[in-house]
Order: sequence, then structure tokens, then C-alpha cells
Amino acid sequence: MMTNLRGRLDGGDEFDITSTVSWHALAAHQQHMYSLHLRELFVMDPDRGRELVVDAADLHIDFSKNLITRETVELLAALAREAGVEEQRDAMFAGAHLNTSEDRAALHIALRLPRDAQLIVDGQDVVADVHDVLDRMGDFTDRVRGGDWTGHTGKPITDVVNIGIGGSDLGPVMAYEALRHYRHPGITGHFVSNSDPSDLVSVLAGLDAETTLFVVSSKTFTTLETITNATAARSWLLSRLGLSDGDSDAVAKHFVAVSTNADEVAKFGIDTDNMFGFWNWVGGRYSIDSAIGLSLMIAIGRELFDEFLAGFHAVDEHFRTAPLEQNAPAILALVGLWYSNFWDAQSQAVLPYSNDMARFPAYLQQLTMESNGKTVTAGGHHVTSPTGSIYWGEPGTNGQHAFYQLLHQGTWLIPADFIGFAQPLDDLPAADGRSMHDILMSNFFAQTQVLAFGKTADDIAAEGVPPKLVPHKVMPGNRPSTSILAPKLTPSVLGQLIALYEHETFVKAMVWGINPFDQWGVELGKKQAVDLVGVISDDPAPSPLPDSSTDAMVRWYRGMRGR
Ligand code: F6P
Repeated sequence: MMTNLRGRLDGGDEFDITSTVSWHALAAHQQHMYSLHLRELFVMDPDRGRELVVDAADLHIDFSKNLITRETVELLAALAREAGVEEQRDAMFAGAHLNTSEDRAALHIALRLPRDAQLIVDGQDVVADVHDVLDRMGDFTDRVRGGDWTGHTGKPITDVVNIGIGGSDLGPVMAYEALRHYRHPGITGHFVSNSDPSDLVSVLAGLDAETTLFVVSSKTFTTLETITNATAARSWLLSRLGLSDGDSDAVAKHFVAVSTNADEVAKFGIDTDNMFGFWNWVGGRYSIDSAIGLSLMIAIGRELFDEFLAGFHAVDEHFRTAPLEQNAPAILALVGLWYSNFWDAQSQAVLPYSNDMARFPAYLQQLTMESNGKTVTAGGHHVTSPTGSIYWGEPGTNGQHAFYQLLHQGTWLIPADFIGFAQPLDDLPAADGRSMHDILMSNFFAQTQVLAFGKTADDIAAEGVPPKLVPHKVMPGNRPSTSILAPKLTPSVLGQLIALYEHETFVKAMVWGINPFDQWGVELGKKQAVDLVGVISDDPAPSPLPDSSTDAMVRWYRGMRGR
């Protein structure tokens, strides 16, 4: 086994997870579980609602409404052990180069280690590096929030525009929205990501150049969308301030950068004194807790950003130390994998019962799908089982009035993660005087209950429903869900939730034997877009393109654009 595992870590694997003893045991177990309904599982094991539950830091996670028993958890844990999840987890925490295709560590856990920790990687104490940058970010943040950092005309900053895409956008905007209650009242955040000019134009429309700060966030500082938007923003700023194109003083006052690429930052015209760095061991989709969180830190302040990081760290410690059977990210991953690989589920719904968490599913889409959307193993062999689920979702209760019909009575098995909070950050009295937050959460509990237990034809008929309507009203139940509850949506709890899903993503990848830290699949489209810009815009018209579809569309498009 260790030979195989070593081979997996080195990227030279011959290890087929579907040939393991645990995989076969799970396949046989699924046959047995297939005949059991959640109604029966709760009768057979009345305590499962209290015991198939894991607490991790402030998160209280109920797995009992899943198509599992305690035996399933044991079998899944055995699978994870056979796949070497614990060894690979420890290797990740130690800074091993688990990102084999790029020969890099994946050390996002170092971004939230406390100041007094030490982690030497490739001869360097990365914790000291991390806290140096956090201190610089904190000082800068204090100056912006306190009005000491002023724009070119001496006015304090009222608006911060983060320009970035993918991991340099989704984390900052999701967390900014989620932490609405903790923001500085006098500074508004904005986020521009799309290369559709409407994105930038609509944000700039409401802004005053004199009081606007742009945070250009890009790990590589070569991403086309970001550099294009940043260049357009710079022109807007200079023209609004009535300055010439080369006015570097104004740019220095209104533009800061977050990047690993000082050369490109300088080339763009941003003073590298105003650059906040991070490292190639931070993947884009694992970077909200690095300097990529600068716009968030400006919004919530350095102390709350520290609490945000402490939340991540609390779940890191849980993940690092808890046995697999009581390890929240591991069980979340393994239960998800159980559905993907043994029940043919293709997708995973994520349903936050919090309006402020509206962007969380989109954030998770990049985290999980850019990480685990792979068809080859780390060693370059074709995978032998489905990988990466399709993550999607909307806040409850909006989703209830849109797609829950399919969750309840459709033909697909769609496991759902429900996320809810006990203490509201906003509340109002409802018509009956009760709390609106309690109404929201009663929906949370009702939906998970109905998904699990449904309603039988007999129960419906007993209510006097006409026989021809009965089949339409049958609620099959047996639809799995996991309930993730936390006391309150705080910076710490948000960090805990992100870390939960980061490690969930990692555990799945380790079982599948894929590398969750690279994303080669997004490169070719980017390159071809660059190649096609001239083809659709320049004269003369291009010679025939290799495929008739693109050729015809390009010619149609050119015609519509008068070319
Ligand atoms: O979409 C591909 C990707 O490389 C992501 O992984 C990354 O988060 C995003 O582009 C943005 O990259 P950068 O931060 O280098 O601009």
C-alpha cells in the first residue's frame, strides 16, 4: 500500500482506487442501502439524528439525513485510509509539493497559521513571510479606513474597487457580501471581474475618481480580463482627474496591486511599494485569506480579518487532528463521493439560508470544480471513476420557489448541503409577531425533513385527496441532505465554512488520485481567445477557419459589426 501511496504523491501512480478492497465493500454496501428508505433508517437507528453529527469549531453538522449508516461511515473512512488521505493531508500541512504538475506546495493552511507558529518550507519560514504581508496590509488598511490615505486631490477614500477574476474576485466579493454587517460605514466596496465592459462601466458610473481606490488583484498579473479592466480604469481615473496618461503620482495614489509578479505590477505603472505579495504556493481559488483579501480587510478592518483567519485555522486544526470518522471535511467529502461514485449523482446543491451568503455557491463552484474537474490522475493516467461534482445553488428560500420541485420530485438524486445560522444579523417581526428569521429557519428545517421523509400515497389518500391526484402529490423522500449549522454568520464562521469546503475538495481529490491544485483545462480557451481577437476585429477578413461553425459565426459577427 505505501508503495502505491508514495507513487501517488510522486505523480507516478499505478494505484486504481476502484480496485481496492474498500471500494468493493462500498459497492456491495450500496446494494444493501439501495433498498432502505431514510424513514426506515431512522426507525432502525433512532439515535442517528443525535449521533451522525460532527462538531468542528463552531460548525454543527448533521449528516443523519444522508443515505448512510454508521457502517457506511466506517467503510468510507476505510476507503480514505486505503487512498492515503491522512498521509497526504499531513504532507500538505508539511508543505510537500502536492501540486505535482507545477511542482509546488499547496500551503493555503500557512496563510492562517498564528504569528507564533513556524513552518519551514523549501528553507523559508513561510509564517514569518505571511505575517509580514498581513502587517503591511493592516497598516495600509488602517490608513485607508482612518482617512489618512488620500487620493490625488487630498480627499479620503470612499470607494474601493477590486479588479480581478476567478480566485482574485470570487472570494473577495463573496466574503464582502457575506460580512455586510461588519463593514466600514464610510467605504463601499465594488468588484469588477468580467471582460464585458458593462461590468466596469456600471461600477464606474456611480463613482467619484477623487475618492476611489482600485485594488488590482491578480496572482499572475497577466490575466487578460484583469489587465484590460485595470487599464481602462486607469484611463478613466486620469481623464476624470484631468491628468495626462503618464501621471504616475495619481496612479500611485489610486492604484494598489495584489500579486506574486512584481515585474508586471511595475510595468503596469503601480508603485511596487503599494504591492501586497503572496506566493506561488497559494492557488488562486485558495487565496481569499492571502493578500487577495485586501479589499475585504479594508471593508472589515484588520482585527476582524484576523478573526476570519482564525476561523480557517480552527477548522484546519480539526481537519489535521480529528479521526476520519469524526472529521467534518473528510466526512462531507466522503459522503459526497459516496453519491458521485456509488449512486450516480452528478451534482451537489449548496443552499445557504442566508441572503448575505448568496455568492457562496458561486465561490464554491470555482473552489470545487476548478480543483476537481479532472479526467487524469496526478500521475497522468485516466481516472477510473467519475470525479468533480457539479456544484450549484441559491439562497433559501428563493431556491424553494425555483428549483426545489426537482429536488423533491424529480428523477435525479441531488444531495444538498443546507447552511443556516441560529442568531440573525437582521430580524424583523412577521405579521404574526414572530421573528422573520425563525420563519426562514423553519423553512430550512422543513425542507430537509420533507426531502428525507416525504409523504406516502397512503398518507395523502387518507387526507381525502382524490385518487387521480394522489400520484402527483406523493413526495418520495429519501433525498439526502447535510445540515450545516453555526451560531451566527461572523468573520470566523465564514472562515470556518470556507476551510470546511477547501478540505472537502482536497479529500475527494486524494481519494480520486487527482491533483486539485492545477487547472490546465482553462488555458487553451484563454489562448484561443487571444488568437481570435484579431480574426474578428481586424481587416482583411480572415482566411477560412478550420471549423465551419466558428468560421460561419465569425463571418456573421463581422458582418453585424460592419466589417
Ligand atoms: O481561471 C483560471 C485562473 O488561473 C484561476 O485559477 C485564477 O483564480 C484566475 O484565473 C485569475 O488568475 P490571476 O489571479 O492570476 O489573475
